[in-house]
Amino acid sequence: MKKLILPLVAACLLLVGCCKEQDHVIRTKVPVRPAGQTDVLQLRTDPIPTVRVAFIGLGMRGPGAVNRMTHIDGVEIVALCDVVESNVKKVNKKLIDKGLPAAQEFYGDTSVWRQVTKLPNVDLVYIATDWLHHAKIGIQALKDDKHVAIEVPSAMNMEEIWELINLSEQKRKHCLPLENCCYDFFELTTLNMVQQGVLGEVLHGEGAYIHGLQPYWNSYWKNDADSLGWRMDYNKKHRGDLYPTHGIGPVCQAMNIHRGDKMNFLVSVDTKAVGNPAFIKEKMGKEVTDFRNGDHTSTLIRTEKGKTILIEHDVTSPRPYSRMYQLTGTKGFANKYPVQGFALDAGSIDPAIAANHENLNAHSFVPNDVRKELMEKYKHPIVKDIEEKAKTVGGHGGMDFIMDYRLIYCLQRGLPLDMDVYDLAEWCCLIPLTELSLDNNSAPVEIPDFTRGAWDKLDKVTFAQ
Ligand SMILES: NC(=O)c1ccc[n+]([C@@H]2O[C@H](COP(=O)([O-])OP(=O)(O)OC[C@H]3O[C@@H](n4cnc5c(N)ncnc54)[C@H](O)[C@@H]3O)[C@@H](O)[C@H]2O)c1
Repeated sequence: MKKLILPLVAACLLLVGCCKEQDHVIRTKVPVRPAGQTDVLQLRTDPIPTVRVAFIGLGMRGPGAVNRMTHIDGVEIVALCDVVESNVKKVNKKLIDKGLPAAQEFYGDTSVWRQVTKLPNVDLVYIATDWLHHAKIGIQALKDDKHVAIEVPSAMNMEEIWELINLSEQKRKHCLPLENCCYDFFELTTLNMVQQGVLGEVLHGEGAYIHGLQPYWNSYWKNDADSLGWRMDYNKKHRGDLYPTHGIGPVCQAMNIHRGDKMNFLVSVDTKAVGNPAFIKEKMGKEVTDFRNGDHTSTLIRTEKGKTILIEHDVTSPRPYSRMYQLTGTKGFANKYPVQGFALDAGSIDPAIAANHENLNAHSFVPNDVRKELMEKYKHPIVKDIEEKAKTVGGHGGMDFIMDYRLIYCLQRGLPLDMDVYDLAEWCCLIPLTELSLDNNSAPVEIPDFTRGAWDKLDKVTFAQ
């Protein structure tokens, strides 16, 4: 009998091991955390009463960020850097015209930024270059002991993402994605409603970047004189969701990702590429037969706690701009595009707000006046202080200003930032991992736990005061 049992047990063990290996999930390498290093959740650093900022990348996006920072007390703009000399001079002139001190200028080639990250008089390096330089500059800035803020998407592959995490942990410096959509008034109000239980348990979320970029393609920096610019080049060379952070960021915050839940795996499907190759043909007369990025990419994600997320990417189809932003909860529903609305269980609406309305139920959006009252009642505390100024300074209606204001507010007081390097990792990893899924016939791909074991230490996203 013993003789029979042993081989049987061995066969069973083999089968279990085998199933694990054959669960069809593609896994990427998770580097072991170097000895002596811990996570940077809720990282507090020494207060910096006057934050000295260096800006690298002054194309279409960067100058607006410089301008916003001039409206925040306790900020010194000490360095401006771009490959193109005139971009630097133009922004510096604006500082001088405003009566501010001129910043030190750096321009000329694609490695001039190396002089900037090592400047001793800089606290924060703010990066708004093309995607290929984002992480490269961020990594060096962390090595040079600076806090780092990187435009989105902040990193393009898993190696860059893990290096940013490791350096932020090792140097105890902040490294955050400049994800402005997390500060949109609707998203922030909805997050507040979620955190107060108005939508019940949020089970499903949707986000997107649907934005025909035809008016902009030709205005991006030309990394290659023979191309339409870096962004079209990247789309030509890569399948996948190349701009996921506007869609995924606010949904992850509402779902407490790495604050009690974590994304486990994704699967992606895409259409063939039609719109962008046709655009290149029309503008440059070139026939492109190997364009990788499909017109429409859809990605589904499942979380540890049994939630799902749908993320879409489309930068070519003739559709109205949309980031979708949709949350489905057990007691209610929120939707930003194409129309802003809330649908709530009658019992979930504050009786004071519902008093004058009969038949409130979740089968249709609450009436406009109720929506407005909800937006007022659940206005996020960080918006209350700064709303008017944000709308005056602007930047996508004010959300860009709130993002910069919060970054400086927390640095000045040594408080944890609203977003951390794990947010950066979770949101940006969709780029390489959706490409991996697509290149493997839409196979599931594991989304690593970038906190390496600390994903349920916190219980929700917080905005330190
Ligand atoms: N969050 C948002 O709403 C938002 C909106 C627009 C753009 N963006 C992001 O901002 C970034 C910049 O986009 P953009 O539209 O300004 O592109 P852009 O091509 O207009 O600007 C990029 C600039 O970076 C400079 N540059 C490139 N390599 C450099 C290097 N090695 N050193 C110094 N400068 C360098 C170029 O000369 C150019 O001026 C992108 O990552 C984009 O995705 C974000």
